[in-house]
Amino acid sequence: MDAVTLGVDFGTSNSAAAVVENGQLRRLPIEDGAETLPTAVFFPTGGGRMLIGEAAGHALIEGEDGRYMRALKSVLGTPLFHEKRLIGGKRQTLSDVVTAFLFRLRERAEAELGRKVSGVLSGRPVHFHSADPARDAQAEADLRGCYEAAGFTDISFLNEPEAAARASLGTGHPGEVGLVVDIGGGTSDFTLFRTGDSGIEVLASHGIRLGGTDFDSAISLSHAMPLLGHGGQLKREMGAGLLPMPVAVYADLSTWAKIPFLYTPETRRAVAHLLRDAVEPEKVARLAEVLEHELGHELAFAVEKGKIRANGLEGGEAMIRMTMIKRGLGAPVTPGTLAAALEDARNALLKAAAETLEMAGMSPAQVDAVILVGGSSLMRMVGDVARTLCPEARIETSEAFTAVVDGLALTLADGR
Ligand SMILES: Nc1ncnc2c1ncn2[C@@H]1O[C@H](COP(=O)(O)OP(=O)(O)OP(=O)(O)O)[C@@H](O)[C@H]1O
Ligand SMILES: [Mg+2]
Repeated sequence: MDAVTLGVDFGTSNSAAAVVENGQLRRLPIEDGAETLPTAVFFPTGGGRMLIGEAAGHALIEGEDGRYMRALKSVLGTPLFHEKRLIGGKRQTLSDVVTAFLFRLRERAEAELGRKVSGVLSGRPVHFHSADPARDAQAEADLRGCYEAAGFTDISFLNEPEAAARASLGTGHPGEVGLVVDIGGGTSDFTLFRTGDSGIEVLASHGIRLGGTDFDSAISLSHAMPLLGHGGQLKREMGAGLLPMPVAVYADLSTWAKIPFLYTPETRRAVAHLLRDAVEPEKVARLAEVLEHELGHELAFAVEKGKIRANGLEGGEAMIRMTMIKRGLGAPVTPGTLAAALEDARNALLKAAAETLEMAGMSPAQVDAVILVGGSSLMRMVGDVARTLCPEARIETSEAFTAVVDGLALTLADGR
């Protein structure tokens, strides 16, 4: 039987694979019958087999000893991606880790299809790194290298929002203009397109490096980290007066991709110094506890859950449950404090969406439909942005988590 080419959406938070078989779109259950899997890995201490997806998350939550990693896509194109580190008991790079993830994905797809997988049409954000073309090109080269090392031979890329636009064809009418707004975990991507009789015409694509993981960071820094001493003060070793608490460790602890690299003797020593000089040592002691017991990812999951719950509220408050640090500890999030934490992000999204129209020389009134894609498009503010920019357009919600992979597979099938 012929080898197959897979459509793969390698996402910052979630990944998926699909093909078209006998004219039918088929999303492959890479894990446990689910159509998508978290882009996460877990290396058990002692060298057991690397876990991926939900299984990796379970191992973390169950408190198994090992190294958990998520949001690896955001490191593509940076020097960190090729630095050798001790991960899972052996010296390896993040490039090796992504390769192992993609290798496993290919293996499971082959088992599911009963055929060899030779090629891949992979999604990519319009810009992995906004405003840095060299880094952006390096990010695609890094990802290509990982696919190659994972055994894919024929490798090509398509902009993620363009793939989503192709998947949305069924909802469009010929001649209509649509704007895909794909807000994921790591990037926000936009494609303005016109629907034709047998395909779409891309009018402009644009993207910025801002997504749900950045929303998590902003919410963590404004809501959770103050309980760990962020924004506090230090007594001077000599002399009078107080110093502001350094921000770096709190910023890294709020950033999914950086958490694993905080668990070093150097960082723990630095935090012990902060603890000694802190005006509020009881708060910095919680930071020390998080590093000591490697609770950073659990805390990040709690912040993400708090974000999603608060987003669903009309009033009242949701809790970021920080009970992994101390019984009863939590940070309330209200719709108001959520909106305040995300105000800069909201403005950046509105600006980027407007720029996409400008790139094509179109006015908002010419847009017939805005199609919301990506997990973070479920944030209320994203719908608000769409309505603010294009008040007359229909707002369509697509399959938030699978529109991109569907579009990739459909593109392979009929080159639409
Ligand atoms: N119900 C929800 N409300 C708000 N945000 C959500 C919801 N569900 C998931 N998210 C957020 O969506 C993001 C993941 O979305 P998605 O899976 O589309 O990203 P991705 O495709 O992996 O990332 P990218 O395309 O940027 O590489 C996460 O930041 C997550 O917190
Ligand atoms: Mg995505």
